[in-house]
Amino acid sequence: MSKKKPLRSQEWFGRSGKMGFYYRSFFKGMGIPDDQFDGRPVIGICNTWSELTPCNAHFRDIAEHVRHGVYEAGGFPLEFPVSSLGEVSMRPTAMLFRNLAAMDVEEAIRAHPLDGVVLLMGCDKTTPALLMGAASVNLPTIGVSGGPQLNGVYRGTKIGSGTNIISMDEQVRAGTLSQADYKLAEGAMNRSHGHCMTMGTASSMASVVEALGVGLPHNAAIPATDARRDLLARMAGRRIVEMVHEDLVLANILTREAFENAIRTLAAIGGSTNAVIHLLAIAGRAGIDLRLDDFDALSRGIHCLVNLMPSGEHLMEDFYYAGGLPVVLRSLAQHGHLHKDALTANGHTIWENVREAACWNEAVITPFDAPFKRDAGIAVLKGNLAPDGAVIKPSAASPDMLRHTGRAVVFESTQELLAAIDDDDLDIDETCIMVLKNCGPKGYPGMAEVGNLPLPNKLLRKGVHDMVRISDARMSGTAYGTVVLHVAPEAAVGGPLAVVRNGDTITLDVPGRTLHLHVEDDELQARLAQWQAPTRHANRGYASLYLDHVLQADRGADFDFLLGASGAEVGRDNH
Ligand code: FES
Repeated sequence: MSKKKPLRSQEWFGRSGKMGFYYRSFFKGMGIPDDQFDGRPVIGICNTWSELTPCNAHFRDIAEHVRHGVYEAGGFPLEFPVSSLGEVSMRPTAMLFRNLAAMDVEEAIRAHPLDGVVLLMGCDKTTPALLMGAASVNLPTIGVSGGPQLNGVYRGTKIGSGTNIISMDEQVRAGTLSQADYKLAEGAMNRSHGHCMTMGTASSMASVVEALGVGLPHNAAIPATDARRDLLARMAGRRIVEMVHEDLVLANILTREAFENAIRTLAAIGGSTNAVIHLLAIAGRAGIDLRLDDFDALSRGIHCLVNLMPSGEHLMEDFYYAGGLPVVLRSLAQHGHLHKDALTANGHTIWENVREAACWNEAVITPFDAPFKRDAGIAVLKGNLAPDGAVIKPSAASPDMLRHTGRAVVFESTQELLAAIDDDDLDIDETCIMVLKNCGPKGYPGMAEVGNLPLPNKLLRKGVHDMVRISDARMSGTAYGTVVLHVAPEAAVGGPLAVVRNGDTITLDVPGRTLHLHVEDDELQARLAQWQAPTRHANRGYASLYLDHVLQADRGADFDFLLGASGAEVGRDNH
């Protein structure tokens, strides 16, 4: 009979002598009985609860449900906090701190007597940060998302977090919505616990967790306030104990096939462009060779099946009632777009999990043969304006603008943009292409979600609703428009974007996957030779570390020294 691998936690709790006394005694100070140290799996509940992260404010309740499940399966649960990243209030952008949180998660898991981990995540950056950190340690791991908010409803109409902030702001600026009504909508939009309920970044990443197989079926869409979310957390608590016994580590799940499933799922749900950066970063930690070009190749031929904001009209609550992500996964599998044998956290293959899925509302989840939008996966553009790539989400763009040539109107910074955009003397019309620089990983810093530039007031009053916009920034997953993002290399490191000038001509060709600046190569090189780097944003602290080590968007904007993993090695005794 093969000998069972000793549990990692026994390197602390199974010790005799002085160190055994030391490691157990202080835990006994919390009222923990002696039998909890007898070699049963110790499960970390990695919690991003914070009142500064409203989307995760219910996570102490979710952690209790996980805890019940762990006890029921014979494990010993220990909840611990990690850095939380609240998308709504962190400045200059929560993305600046994603890698910091990922380091926190990695080191917290490795340093403690844990055999398995349940990751509680919800608001945008909390999901990639926890997955990146956990992948770098590679213990048995389950992801539990906090769930989306209930539908926003204002005066009988659905309003989606983020998406309708933008549209209503445009109505206010165009003079068609009063300030008083705009204010009333504030309380009607985000009206329950949970994360943004559009198919924004949080919902996209919760779907990615399910498609990767790291989460249990239905992780993506059960509303935060639905009892079935609590049940899912409880079942995750039970299952993680079994996973420790089975030695089913994260690397068994985060395979190349799993990432391909996640990328195709992202296309089928009309998911956020942010997920591209996060998946690249997670893959980098898991040692999977995933490239930006893979997103384009794998997304081709995948239709957007889900009619949710910002690409469509419904919300995550509707998605769950229609059958949720299993319906999408089943549809992809039936059309040959899913690796059916990919293993998931519950021990079943992804196909076993979804083959019985039923759709209850084809207005929300459309059939593959009659999709909501055809060929709408995230497209990767290349050209002399983006040698290392840029992305666009066609499902959220205006179809008639996907091929467009226009005159560049250039803004060197967001400050310059905001100062000029509502000036009626600004030389711009709806055929122009708006270009924003210095908002990439190093330029902002942190690559803020400012890529969906506001449209000029004078054009909004004319009834213009979309224009081509290009930047090295990101865009909120809840936003929409014909918006080219993540231009790499970014302007702040001397990418060609840095030398675009007012009046230059640019051609966007999404079907041809190109982004071209109509400037002769000699002229472009001459401009680049004269280019001067902008002032560095920080010379101390974390921001300085970030500026020194952050990779470009096409490589996931992780730190160069965090690629790969360090494993779950137990460190030397601390005393
Ligand atoms: Fe937290 Fe949107 S602000 S998910």
